[in-house]
Amino acid sequence: MPVTPQTRAVARQAELEELAREAARCELCPQLVESRSQVVFGSGNAAAELMFVGEAPGASEDREGVPFVGASGKLLDTLLDEIGMVREEVFIANVLKCRPPENRDPRPEEVGNCSSWLESQLELVSPALVVTLGNFATRLLRGDSAPIGKVRGRPEVVPVGRRSVRLYPVFHPAAALYRRPNLEVLREDFARIPGLLELGAPEQPAGGPRIAPGDSGAAALASDGEGEAGEAGEAGAEGEDQLGLF
Ligand code: URA
Repeated sequence: MPVTPQTRAVARQAELEELAREAARCELCPQLVESRSQVVFGSGNAAAELMFVGEAPGASEDREGVPFVGASGKLLDTLLDEIGMVREEVFIANVLKCRPPENRDPRPEEVGNCSSWLESQLELVSPALVVTLGNFATRLLRGDSAPIGKVRGRPEVVPVGRRSVRLYPVFHPAAALYRRPNLEVLREDFARIPGLLELGAPEQPAGGPRIAPGDSGAAALASDGEGEAGEAGEAGAEGEDQLGLF
């Protein structure tokens, strides 16, 4: 049978579903196993050109089993709409697949435990562009502790697993909900997404380096442990420091 974009998409979807079934049984982080109602694997188009990576499920996501369905998710939908896209076209995942208790920040060891799921998702979906939402995803995939305020809006090509990925860090939607000026910045950064998608996927390494996000990324997170909030930040953050935005 000839391999068409459709057959490839169906095969990827089946592999992602198998991966999601495996992830649903993951018990690597005892505290998260306690705090979660379910594993929030990720959702969307298995053959998406655009993938978003957020931080961790909040209460709504934990309840529904789908990433970005709370207030941050509604804003993400709006931002997508503003650039003429819909959620069904993209793939959405998080650094952590389980909701941390009290929506606390992900811990470096949890990020390390969870990173192979994200790496597999990136490899299976093979998006042309990966937009990291906020500090946690950005630090993990850049393998560097530079804060989002310094690197947002600057696309770059980084190695993730066996692939080279075009990465585009932007503020987390929670940061925009919390602080209005961030919304304008986020809007401006989103406006560049269609142009970046037109560039297509970056050239891939032959045989490729194998750098798991967890190798350097989890260490990058360990350097200050501050991230922006998920749903907790949207609802209850009291200061910018708590959001870890800058
Ligand atoms: N914040 C995140 O980072 N991910 C979600 O899925 C929801 C809120």
